[in-house]
Amino acid sequence: MSDLDTLAADARSRIAGAADLTALEGLRVEFLGKQGSISGLLKTLGALPPEQRQIEGPRIHGLREEVTAALADRKQALESAALDARLASETIDITLPAAELPRGAIHPVSQVMDELAEIFADLGFAVATGPEIEDDWHNFTALNLPEHHPARAMHDTFYFPDQMAGPDGGKMLLRTHTSPVQVRTMLSQGAPLRIISPGRVYRSDSDATHTPMFHQIEGLVIDRDIHLGHLKWTLETFLKAFFERDDIVLRLRPSYFPFTEPSVEVDVGWEDVGGRRVLGGDGDAPGHGWMELLGSGMVNAQVLEFCNLDPNEWQGFAFGVGVDRLAMLKYGIDDLRAFFDGDLRWLRHYGFSAFDVPTLSAGVGARP
Ligand code: PHE
Repeated sequence: MSDLDTLAADARSRIAGAADLTALEGLRVEFLGKQGSISGLLKTLGALPPEQRQIEGPRIHGLREEVTAALADRKQALESAALDARLASETIDITLPAAELPRGAIHPVSQVMDELAEIFADLGFAVATGPEIEDDWHNFTALNLPEHHPARAMHDTFYFPDQMAGPDGGKMLLRTHTSPVQVRTMLSQGAPLRIISPGRVYRSDSDATHTPMFHQIEGLVIDRDIHLGHLKWTLETFLKAFFERDDIVLRLRPSYFPFTEPSVEVDVGWEDVGGRRVLGGDGDAPGHGWMELLGSGMVNAQVLEFCNLDPNEWQGFAFGVGVDRLAMLKYGIDDLRAFFDGDLRWLRHYGFSAFDVPTLSAGVGARP
């Protein structure tokens, strides 16, 4: 056996027996590194006479290629063995109980807003939103409440300081109702129109049934030949769907709002069930009564004109109702202030599952 054959046999067996990647790298340096044995042999080629170089050259180069390939094979074998070992040792114990993830709850106000949006969407209403920081014109003037109008006193308004005047030089304020959204929508979309505007509103007021911030949903329909009958039907349909009772009875009382003419206050009949007022039934029946629930009316011609609509061509109705109030009535919650305390125990008790999405087909009411 020539020296070369001995070297080849030695390399083959040692590479095949390399125990790990470190040992293999040691062998690579030993054979092919700058000072390596095969590299050493290659250097001797230059000094050989041409005939001998022609024989030795291919043999040494062949050996180098064989060793290079053997090193690569062994490397791959070692790597896949290492991976197999890891896969075998790093198993996941799927029988361990999973850590429980904290689950949030939907706030009753959000739940009721979703229920209302679902009901009104079915009646063809779109949802319109607008800014909570309003200017005096959109919140009051365009709704037929000029400056110094006594009805402005009905809204205990939070005004911003005079230095923060609005675009037209008027005062800025926290909107006292979502009616300015109706003004904005009439101006931007014109007629006909069917919208609800849910959102936060602000009034300087605070006790068990009033908080400085609360939620409203207002509705507006503008079309040709709209009359009070449409208003009554719409309110009845919405309240029956919302309270999930067919025996909701309404009583319309003449009232006053600057933005509607005529204006009607809407009462709903209730029944005393074990000391609790449950909506439903004729309020005039024995053991029954009427509860004031919302304000509404036919949109005042002045408001239409402010919103660039010709009152001889277009009529409409509007209504406004407190979302928090609806939530309290439907889900039997007594203290409004607790809605905004952020107490997790309260929310866990009164909150709703995020999976219980209100739909008309499954029932808009959340399941208990
Ligand atoms: N914007 C009125 C309020 O907040 C509610 C309302 C809306 C009344 C539409 C009548 C018509 O007091």
